[in-house]
This record gives sequence, C-alpha cells and structure tokens, in this order.
Amino acid sequence: MKISEVQTPAYVIDEKKLRDNLEILRDVQDKSGAKILLAQKAYSAYQTYPIIAEYLAGATASGIYEARLAHEEFKAIAYGGVERENHVYEPAYKDDEMEEICQICDHIVFNSLTQLEHHRPVWEKYAADGKISVGIRVNPEISAEDAHEIYDPCAPGSRLGIRNEHLPDMLPDGVDGIHIHNLCEQGFEPLEETFLKVEQVFSRFFPNPVIEDDYDSFVFRDMGYEESAGSEYSDDFDEIESLDGIEDDTDDLNAEFGLTGFEGKIRWINLGGGHHITREDYDRDALVRLIRYIREKYGIEVYLEPGEAIALNAGYLVTTVMDVVQTDRMPVLILDTSASCHMPDVIEMPYRPPLMDSEQPGEMNFTYRLSSRTCLAGDVIGDYSFAEEKKIGDKLYFEDMAIYSFVKNNTFNGMPLPDIDIRHLDGEVEVLKTFDYSDFKSRL
Ligand SMILES: Cc1ncc(COP(=O)(O)O)c(C=O)c1O
Repeated sequence: MKISEVQTPAYVIDEKKLRDNLEILRDVQDKSGAKILLAQKAYSAYQTYPIIAEYLAGATASGIYEARLAHEEFKAIAYGGVERENHVYEPAYKDDEMEEICQICDHIVFNSLTQLEHHRPVWEKYAADGKISVGIRVNPEISAEDAHEIYDPCAPGSRLGIRNEHLPDMLPDGVDGIHIHNLCEQGFEPLEETFLKVEQVFSRFFPNPVIEDDYDSFVFRDMGYEESAGSEYSDDFDEIESLDGIEDDTDDLNAEFGLTGFEGKIRWINLGGGHHITREDYDRDALVRLIRYIREKYGIEVYLEPGEAIALNAGYLVTTVMDVVQTDRMPVLILDTSASCHMPDVIEMPYRPPLMDSEQPGEMNFTYRLSSRTCLAGDVIGDYSFAEEKKIGDKLYFEDMAIYSFVKNNTFNGMPLPDIDIRHLDGEVEVLKTFDYSDFKSRL
C-alpha cells in the first residue's frame, strides 16, 4: 500500500527518516562515548523499538508503564548481544511500584530526598547487589532564553529537580549519579551553559578530575577542542586513567582502603532531553567535545535522553477532507483528524504544524482554516493556503507527527484514534495498529 492509500486518520512513521536520525545519534555515541536513550514520553511506538535498539544504548521511562514497555519491548531485543538499558525518572513513585521498578530498571532517578529516603528500604538491597544504579534529579536553575514556561523545568516554583540550596554537602549514601533536564527543542549552546553551571554549582559531587583542569574558561563551540598536553583522548575510555603525563595514585589508595574511587561522588551524569541533535543546524561536533571533556576529566559516564531528536520529522498524520464549510471569514476544511484529540501540542504549545504542499495563508490562491469534526470551537489546527482548491475526499499530510502525537492522543467526543502505520524503506506502508470503538469504551 502507498501512503496515499492509507485509511485515515493515520499516523505514518517514516522508517527512512527514523533511521537517518538514529544514524546521527549513533555517530554521536560512537565519537563521544555517551550513551543515548530513547525518551519514550515523546515516542513509544514499541513496534519500532527493534529498529531503535539497533542504534541506541537504551530507553528511559516517565513511570512504571513506560518502564514495563521498554523492559518488554526494548531491553528484551538486546541488539548484537549487548543488553540495552532501562532507565526511569518520575517525580514520585508509589509504594506498590518500587519493587517492580527495581526489578526491571537499571537506573532509577528520584526527584526529592524525601522520595529517595522513603523508598530506600526497597531500592537499597538491589543497589547493594549491583542490580540498579540510583540517581537524583537536580535543578540547575538555568532556563533557555526562549523557554516556554510550561516546558521549562527551571521556571520559578518548578517541582522538578532538587535545588542546590536543598542538597547536603555530601551525596546521599547509595546515590551514583545526577540527572538534569532543563531544555526543550534546543541547540547546543544552552546545554553548554547548563553543564558549565552544573559543574560549578555541584562540583562537590563530581569525582576528582582524572586529568588536570586547564579548562577554566572552556567554550566548546567555535574554538575547537584543544587537546591538553599528554592526553591521548583515546576512544577506549577504560584507558583514561592511564593517560600519559598524569600522576595518579588513586588506584593504589583505593585498593588499600577497598574503595572504588567514586565513594560519595557521581559515577554518571544524565543530561536529560530537549537536545535537537538531529536538526540540521545542531552543533554536533561541539556536543561531542563537551561529552568527551566530561568523560575524560571526571571518568564518569554521560547519558543523554532525547525524545524529539529520535523521531524528528519522521512521521505524518494523514487526514481526509470531510467537508468544506463557508463562514463569514474564510472557508473551513472539516478534517477527520483533530488538533485537540490527535495533536494536542498544537493547542497546548500552541503551534501551527507543518503541512505538505501548503504555504502561509494568502500566499497561494486558496486559503482555508483547517479544523476538525469535534464540537470544540477552538479545535483549529491553523490557517494554510494551497495552489489548488480543496475538495471533499482530498488527503492532507501533516508533517513531523511522530513525536508527542500518538503518545498524547485521546478520544474526546468519542473521536476514533488514528491508525499507526509505518512506511518502510521501499515506500510500502504497513499498518501497525488499528483502533475501534472498544478502545474508546474500555477507557471509560
Ligand atoms: C526528564 C525528561 N527527559 C527527557 C525528555 C525528552 O525531551 P525531548 O523530547 O524534548 O528531547 C523530557 C521531556 O519532557 C523529560 O522531561
């Protein structure tokens, strides 16, 4: 079946574009040594997890359901014999969830010291057995310049992440890592600013530098990465501690006291999501330099957990024109999709989604308001113009509809849920999932 033949409404995932994004992300992983995780909140078409698991180190969850999904569908499909990781962060976990979370996750991140301590009796034994690694989310208190308040975890009054003033001098017992997330749809520069602040503010949690600190006024973009004298910047980071020219007797001391060298210090940092790494203008070389700097200086693991970057521009929402209604302003196309039900970010953010073969209103001969068959007056997708007049039965293709779309949809007004399809590399479309009345009824 060709994309023009799909039953509408339907989200159509584009395998070629998904793989193009994943190639870029794998390249960043390979060059930097970071581990990149799929943030399932943005995209959880688990039927395609085997594709994603070919490229990425693991997945991250917003709670027990996504964690279960990754456990069943991502981790289970360990690619090339390498087990994929399952991470979870949620502002609060329920008591009856914690045991299962510990059994199916590799990393568990807590949002407060209260949550950390409340669940300690459960997680501590798994941590002691080396089955999980525990982290805390810290609030770096730095927002991107153009941050939308509802997507800004560092907005005043935010509940997301512990502020420095509420953290003790020592990392709490059993905590291996810190997690930060403060960005949304950003280029590299805000990440750089964020990390440099985090490195300063939370310096007490970082291990002693493995290599000499000659990066005082370090800027990762533009200037290029001057390799410090004696450093080989080996691709094999297990060798970091034996880099030439560094006097390092920590191994001996650690052996003497039976320590691992990370006591009371982080072993990993998770830089969260919001990095538009697969966007054409993203400074990926600078990202690689930053990650290598962190890994080499401190000898710690670096995780990134983008959602959008994984499936950016990798899907369509195909819809059919059901009616053309004349109004006192412009004609309105009634579509078999809905902003409110099938692309809620259009209303929440708000934004006007890209639509194939269309322009801004007035730029081409025929301008329409695109709307839906729900009762909500404000269920409007946007105003668009076209070269040709639109007729009942015409198909329209909204673009960049693989992210934050089917993970957020709903059946308000009893609206049917769109199918989820995939367009394979040869152009053939396969239906992955269809929905019917029972999906509406079973949720009520
Ligand atoms: C904790 C956390 N990690 C990762 C992400 C994924 O962000 P994005 O899809 O913008 O890359 C989010 C998004 O809200 C998040 O809250």
